[in-house]
Amino acid sequence: MKLKNKDLVGRDASILWHPYTQHRFSDDPLCVASAKGAYLYDGEGKPYLDMISSWWVNIHGHGRTELADAISRQALNLDHVHFAGVTHEPAVALAERLVKLSRLGDGTRLFYSDNGSTAVEVALKICHQYWRNRGQQRPRIMTFRGGYHGDTLGAMTVGESSGFFDAFRSWMFDVDVLEVPHTWGAASTREEESACIRAFQERLGNIAGDVAALIVEPLIQGAAGMRFHSPEFLSEICRLARNAGIPVIFDEVMTGFFRTGTLFAYMQTDVLPDLVCLSKGITGGILPLGATLVKGEYFSAFLGDSFSEALAHGHSFTGNPITCAAAMANLDLLEGRDAAILVADISSQLSDGIEKLERRYPIEKTRVLGGIGAFELKGKSSDYAAGVARPLARYCQDHGVILRPLGNVVYMMPPYCVLPEDFDLAFTVLEDYFGSHGIS
Ligand SMILES: Cc1ncc(COP(=O)(O)O)c(C=O)c1O
Repeated sequence: MKLKNKDLVGRDASILWHPYTQHRFSDDPLCVASAKGAYLYDGEGKPYLDMISSWWVNIHGHGRTELADAISRQALNLDHVHFAGVTHEPAVALAERLVKLSRLGDGTRLFYSDNGSTAVEVALKICHQYWRNRGQQRPRIMTFRGGYHGDTLGAMTVGESSGFFDAFRSWMFDVDVLEVPHTWGAASTREEESACIRAFQERLGNIAGDVAALIVEPLIQGAAGMRFHSPEFLSEICRLARNAGIPVIFDEVMTGFFRTGTLFAYMQTDVLPDLVCLSKGITGGILPLGATLVKGEYFSAFLGDSFSEALAHGHSFTGNPITCAAAMANLDLLEGRDAAILVADISSQLSDGIEKLERRYPIEKTRVLGGIGAFELKGKSSDYAAGVARPLARYCQDHGVILRPLGNVVYMMPPYCVLPEDFDLAFTVLEDYFGSHGIS
């Protein structure tokens, strides 16, 4: 069995190019042979607790029969068909269900794509063309500093301040980056929030007529290092943007499907967005699917006498019936098991574990919202690729826990089937790492 893992690593090394990987100094990849519940298993049957939900996608745990059955049934009935000039029950039923759940109101439309980046790309293109169809050129997009929205060109551009995409800067359009106050624990940030809101108002006064949209990750900026901002701050920014006639896009690719405790993060604010981007957890995290929800008035602006007013966007797998069936089964599971209660329980376990760590080790800026908990290692580099992240991730993996710190930010985002003993394992391994690496 050991040989099998080694053999796979060798074959991989000679033929594959992995995402977000510097192949010159990357560690050997983990060879995952199977997965069940909150655990991945390598070729030797060794378990690894998936504390990052396989890059923030997995919702109910791996190997869920309900999801697998839904996929299998759908694949045998209608596997795939193009979606221009064609429709089918899974796509319509899922759209009806998501629109209703979104509370965005009558007339809301859903546009399918393939992943989080494309869900964002579609939202940006809709906003850009919405203004063009109304006879206005609005070249700019507003974003929050540190925002990450995916890796396609438009998504990279609005995520330019994440620092990942310097190599592509010369290709990007104009983006206005807004400062965001980060909140953790009981730290009061009211003053900071007011300063950011005043700066935003000033900026709006100068450029509102040039802005096609404001795009934000609501409540938690994921790739920026699980940075939180308050619902009050977000609500105020969105109110100001909308009063200035600027559509608001909420990128709920990471935050959707109860990750922050509510079905969508915006349900903790007192505003509704104009467009919502969904992916990752939409299928329970087992198949790729993107969806962009759009309020009716934006759809209406695309009705015209020529094709040039239509949205020229589509993918080979737009509205794929199998992924839609998986998404329906995911919603059934979320409703059937009262996800809000499950996630509240995860929240309190995360809080307990992190609080205990904080009493003994030099960590700071601890924060928990819904099924996401994070803290920072004092005095360690926040560089994404350097510093403490790699050795910590390696140690934890060697000891059976998958964590991928973002610089000095350690976070946990487990699938909702995680058990108390899984938290014990994760926090014990972290404590062992701190103890054996002089972090005390
Ligand atoms: C908030 C947010 N938007 C968009 C994306 C891009 O999604 P995908 O990787 O499916 O393209 C991500 C991925 O992490 C994300 O966190």
